[in-house]
Amino acid sequence: MQQPITSEAPRTNGQPGGPCAMVIFGASGDLTKRKLIPALYNLSRHRLLPAEFAVVGFARRAGTTESFRAQMRADLARFCDCAVEPGFWDWIESRLHYVSGDVSDAASLKRLQQQLAELERDHGTRGNALFYLATPPQQFGPIVRALDAAGLAREQPGNWRRVIVEKPFGRDLSSARALNEELRAVLSERQIYRIDHYLGKETVQNLLVFRFSNGIFEPIWNRRYVDHVQITVAETLGVEARGGYYDGAGALRDMVPNHIFQLISLVAMECPISFEANGVRDEQSKVLRAIAPLSQEDVLSRTVRGQYGAGKVGDRELVDYRNESDVKPSSSTETYVAMRLEIDNWRWKDVPFYLRVGKALTRRVTEIVVQFKRPPFALFRGTAVEKLSANRLVINVQPDEGIQLHFGAKIPGAVMKIGTVDMEFNYRDHFGAEPATGYERLLYDAVLGDPTLFQRADMVEAGWSVVQPLLDVWQALPARNFPNYAAGSWGPAEGEQLLARDGRRWLTQDGR
Ligand code: BG6
Repeated sequence: MQQPITSEAPRTNGQPGGPCAMVIFGASGDLTKRKLIPALYNLSRHRLLPAEFAVVGFARRAGTTESFRAQMRADLARFCDCAVEPGFWDWIESRLHYVSGDVSDAASLKRLQQQLAELERDHGTRGNALFYLATPPQQFGPIVRALDAAGLAREQPGNWRRVIVEKPFGRDLSSARALNEELRAVLSERQIYRIDHYLGKETVQNLLVFRFSNGIFEPIWNRRYVDHVQITVAETLGVEARGGYYDGAGALRDMVPNHIFQLISLVAMECPISFEANGVRDEQSKVLRAIAPLSQEDVLSRTVRGQYGAGKVGDRELVDYRNESDVKPSSSTETYVAMRLEIDNWRWKDVPFYLRVGKALTRRVTEIVVQFKRPPFALFRGTAVEKLSANRLVINVQPDEGIQLHFGAKIPGAVMKIGTVDMEFNYRDHFGAEPATGYERLLYDAVLGDPTLFQRADMVEAGWSVVQPLLDVWQALPARNFPNYAAGSWGPAEGEQLLARDGRRWLTQDGR
């Protein structure tokens, strides 16, 4: 599916955005080479970048425009999921520039300013600038203050300045609020683009289209017909080289208030009054604020944490999480979380939302399951009502992007027997697979000035408010049974018990 929402948005229309320069802070880091440059390359292939466009890489590492271009060319060949076509790459490469410097140094900012002035002259970028903070979060505040001091954050009549920030947006509710204040001391909210790469995924964007462009689902998308919802984000990888960051964060902070809550908000939100950015984000924010707060008892009874021990995932042997590099040998950081949440509003009251996320699990899969209620009465002789399987809608976010609807059908033969069958839509079969990093749509929208798929401050704070009680209780009561699941399993037994207590089970793992 090409640009499903943009086809309805008057501003986008599949046309390139207006002139601008993009400045990447942290240009020598992983994100730049793995995601940002490949995404810009893909956008250029689709002719979605403006003709008047240029990129400035800014980092402390010594280097020149020539060395930066050569490095990005080599990295693209390594990280782009495609054969690099020289014509498109040459176009981008001729627009790449590099400034080596430190944001705490006024002379470095001066050089950046001069570079931007040159680009305005040579590439017609018209003073518009998109600053991408691909840096550790401690630098967000210093960078925006440096931009302010250099006069680079201020918009003048006729031009715009926008800042993209990457998660983590704080590490708890109070630090998230402090970060929002730090950013807003310099920028207005409409200049801040908080990126969540889950919203760059086609299947996640499709949730809006699926729910609100089809008439048949909305009437049954509520507590009368839905029994419960499950969201599974299972990864097979361990922490790899990110032990230093991850051990201070854990699965809850790393995935839940951001990626998972984006998924919940899109599944559970009310229909927005329009697809204009604040129309959509108001509804997402409202549903996040309606998640029932967890008491201390709820944290103990409705949430599960786990940490992986040694085991085999496929044919890879993983060591204990505590033996991974840069992880404390006595770490009580969780690598798995499961919980049962409820949304206190008219649509969802009493419909449990079960979530789980974990590293070093048996299969890589991100899936949303909407389980409908069973039919009230068994009409067919010999089939007890509890034997009838309920309808289920499964949205595969990755890796096999698609949607399935499970329903009962008569098994052919003289005897009345009911079996479960699927109706299936698969993205790849239907639309073909386009190489993409997930950042294309988000960068494109940021250039256009469409913040619909970016998080607003209130959404971030609403997410942290929900997880804050877990952070508090878990900190006060460090887990004593870690490691409690083997790498290559589906997580700790308590994760299964969480649903079993309600007479349910995780539906993703049984292979359906
Ligand atoms: C990142 C987390 O935000 O998302 C990682 O920091 C995680 O720990 C990743 O692996 C998952 O993203 P995806 O797109 O692979 O599901």
